[in-house]
Amino acid sequence: MQERIEALLKEERVFYPSEEFKRQAHIKSEEEYERLYRESLEDPEGFWGRVASELHWFEPPKKVLEGDLPHPKWFVGGRLNLSYNALDRHVQTWRRNKAALIWEGEPGEERVLTYYDLWREVQRFANVLKRLGVRKGDRVTIYLPMIPEAVIAMLATVRIGAVHSVVFGGFSASALAERIKDAEAKVLITADGGYRRGGIVPLKQNADEALQDAPSVQHVVVVRRTGEEVPMLPGRDHWWHELMEAASDRCEAEPMEAEEPLFILYTSGSTGKPKGVLHTTGGYGVYTYYTTKLIFDLKDEDVYWCTADVGWITGHSYIVYGPLMNGATVVMYEGAPNWPEPDRFWRIVDKYGVTILYTAPTAIRSFMKWGEQWPLKHRLDSLRLLGSVGEPINPEAWLWYYRVIGKGRCPIVDTWWQTETGGIMITTLPGVHPMKPGHAGKPFFGVKPEILDAEGKPVQNPEEGGHLVIERPWPSMLRTVWGDPDRFIKQYFSQHPGKYFTGDGAKRDADGYYMILGRVDDVLNVAGHRLGTMELESALVAHPAVAEAAVVGRPDPIKGEAIVAFVTLKEGFAPSDALKDELKAHVAKLIGPIARPDEVRFTDALPKTRSGKIMRRLLRQIAAGEQEIKGDTSTLEDQRVVEKLKEGA
Ligand code: PRX
Repeated sequence: MQERIEALLKEERVFYPSEEFKRQAHIKSEEEYERLYRESLEDPEGFWGRVASELHWFEPPKKVLEGDLPHPKWFVGGRLNLSYNALDRHVQTWRRNKAALIWEGEPGEERVLTYYDLWREVQRFANVLKRLGVRKGDRVTIYLPMIPEAVIAMLATVRIGAVHSVVFGGFSASALAERIKDAEAKVLITADGGYRRGGIVPLKQNADEALQDAPSVQHVVVVRRTGEEVPMLPGRDHWWHELMEAASDRCEAEPMEAEEPLFILYTSGSTGKPKGVLHTTGGYGVYTYYTTKLIFDLKDEDVYWCTADVGWITGHSYIVYGPLMNGATVVMYEGAPNWPEPDRFWRIVDKYGVTILYTAPTAIRSFMKWGEQWPLKHRLDSLRLLGSVGEPINPEAWLWYYRVIGKGRCPIVDTWWQTETGGIMITTLPGVHPMKPGHAGKPFFGVKPEILDAEGKPVQNPEEGGHLVIERPWPSMLRTVWGDPDRFIKQYFSQHPGKYFTGDGAKRDADGYYMILGRVDDVLNVAGHRLGTMELESALVAHPAVAEAAVVGRPDPIKGEAIVAFVTLKEGFAPSDALKDELKAHVAKLIGPIARPDEVRFTDALPKTRSGKIMRRLLRQIAAGEQEIKGDTSTLEDQRVVEKLKEGA
């Protein structure tokens, strides 16, 4: 971490968008940005009311903003449906036969759905859900690979006013069960399997295992993707294609109150159990629509590709809702970036003439490792804008992305945001702001960030850094933690009362540019995936051999952070390499392959304070291989533990 921060601090180059890009951009100058930004804070109602009027409302809002943090209400009295805004609005125009989704499967198949196709498929599936007994407000869990059915299922769910909870296909059976139970989902949508790096992910098998422990689910809809033989439980399990055949392709969109729930998405926090972040219809819709339009400078001619999975917030906001509400052509790819070879992404950019590419630093660093020869094999001149999301991007990766992929022509937007924020909060605007590698940039309209010290006062010198908070309500903020309103307040509004605490550290330079320094809580960011240390620790102690576990992150050149687990064993168990492997496999089984520890270290004892708190700060330094332990260790209960831990490396 220290090394990374030092490298960031040394990078002083500034890059400017070209005159050509500026001329055609939605927002063209710093003056325009400053004027609109000022207006968005001085008159949020006027500002967001105007943006909202670009969408379709069955009933226009009576009041744009009511109340304040932590419980603001947006677009009060307004009624809308995001499936209507993503589809019906476009099929009434020349976009009817415009490509909405261009999908490519990992084995190479291709499917194009126009807005008209997608509109009909969504209505059909909306009728299927109704027939299975799904009503407004009911929860539907979606556990699918990256196939068009995932988008269809999401939009069909919200079309009838139900609430989706998408669970990333890389999560395990028990992680799926936990999420289904928490949401009390009535219906589960899954597939026989999905393709990943040439192999098959056994989704239906995981689903069956999960359902043994998740009794709320009455019906399972199974998409045939791989054609593998899977058991189908009569009465409970149904084939997607059979239900669709029988369904009508007309289903009116349900007018939803702006503050009615849209979806739940689970994310890791600093405590053991994942949190169900709840987003609502109006605010989320308006904000994702508008950020997509301005930050990606989206035009009708664009071919837009976000490489995230729909199982994460990036997929929700910037594959599905934002781009489709803008009437964009969206590329969707099912598989791994290096399958069958490390040029798959560049092949796709070349093949479909992608103009906007939005991906993660961890992917960029992998491409750097695989070598320039792979992108150089393909024509990338259709690209005009690049985006980065999910973790801090180190200047080396930024520069490589800019030079090798963007050929020095394409602005890069480094977009900072979170599952909880719903949409992008800090970034440069591509036709406006000079870019500084390593700095996300400026707040988007309506966003008022601040950097606070531990006491909650704005830091004297923002260059030194502190806690990143948001001081004003913004339309797409989470409204609560599903089923746990106390946790919502405790988690986000208690550290700095009245302000939203992001859990990130940040600093701000003299030009007002924010640099994100990473999490300041017990949350890891591994290859752009968010994982709670407590969640990993409880998975470890669930193994019969483990007495205690402490998990920390270690800087990793590709993944950003790697997972290191310090483990003490119960009486009767001896440390061995076989046991290390078993524990890694055990965590992968309980949570999913993304959570597999990179390293397990056995130790006799963990460093604790006299009050029994594990000193993770020390473990982080030991995991990073630092010889000198910095900082105060006087509260350590047993001073010898640290020396022993270092020896055990
Ligand atoms: O630490 C920040 C990091 O990812 C966290 C949010 O993770 P998640 O809710 O999974 O959403 C990821 C996609 C929006 C943040 O608290 N993060 C996200 N984007 C950036 C980032 N860190 C630095 N720079 C970014 N651009």
